Amino acid sequence: MERRNIMITGAARGLGHAMAEALTGAGHNVLAIDRDAFSAETFKAGLGKIETLAIDLTHPDAAARAMEACASSFGHVDVLINCAGIGQETISQDFVTDPVKFWTVKDEDWDRIFAVNVRSSFRLCRAVTPSMIKARWGRIINVTTSLETMIRPGMAPYGPSKAAFEALTAIIAKDLEGTGVTANVLVPGGPANTRMMPNIPGPQRALLVQPDLMRAPIVWLVSGESGNINGMRFRANAWDAAKPGHEAAALAGAPAAWSGIAGGAAAVAGR
Ligand SMILES: NC(=O)c1ccc[n+]([C@@H]2O[C@H](COP(=O)([O-])OP(=O)(O)OC[C@H]3O[C@@H](n4cnc5c(N)ncnc54)[C@H](O)[C@@H]3O)[C@@H](O)[C@H]2O)c1
Repeated sequence: MERRNIMITGAARGLGHAMAEALTGAGHNVLAIDRDAFSAETFKAGLGKIETLAIDLTHPDAAARAMEACASSFGHVDVLINCAGIGQETISQDFVTDPVKFWTVKDEDWDRIFAVNVRSSFRLCRAVTPSMIKARWGRIINVTTSLETMIRPGMAPYGPSKAAFEALTAIIAKDLEGTGVTANVLVPGGPANTRMMPNIPGPQRALLVQPDLMRAPIVWLVSGESGNINGMRFRANAWDAAKPGHEAAALAGAPAAWSGIAGGAAAVAGR
């Protein structure tokens, strides 16, 4: 296995923390980024190195600062994992039991959620890509959300922000074809047991997707075996870690975004 230099956002807790730990466990160097200050000691020691960087990714200079930090810690960036995100919990902690109606959403709620979930992640994708293309090797893995969540009642603006991010990833994957750099989506596959899902009663909380399920697919997605995988989305809760990676991927994967529907509509319209 080749040791890769990996930049992962939203790594102080939740899905990002589990993925960062799995990646250092697999021997990779990880720059773990989050808005909240956190320590490398929160991760179990792995074979790879881990550095932390506390920055607010919505700051216009954040991508440049992340690139500088990775350069000074490890050198070039091989892999970017965009996992930082915020959702309806930043509007109401009771959004699960008392959904947020779209007509109550303020401009600042819309802008805050889109700024983190779409623009900040876009800026990081843009920043890492030129050197990856030069190296003819790179991986971008974006954490969007379940397709149902994108259109579930009460989920504006989180759902639309993740739909935008999913569409962006599909475009990035096509723009990168033939460069040696790929872009894919990884999602938990359902509501996950993290801070993003507050105020869930105990018995229901136990049914949520556990962050550890992200470990096996992310380790495979950064490995040499997944080099021909581009423009796909994978569901962690459908990933069978007992199977070889390519078999698990075939069962848990589908094309990112809505390419099937888009192709059909375009054909009907003659475009
Ligand atoms: N929890 C779920 O049910 C669920 C389901 C599908 C997808 N997701 C996605 O998974 C990703 C991880 O979410 P999670 O469930 O682990 O939630 P979480 O709240 O535990 O983790 C998100 C992390 O992102 C960080 N973050 C937020 N804004 C930031 C900013 N401006 N700059 C830097 N860091 C910032 C937070 O500090 C936090 O540590 C998100 O993108 C989320 O949309 C979550």
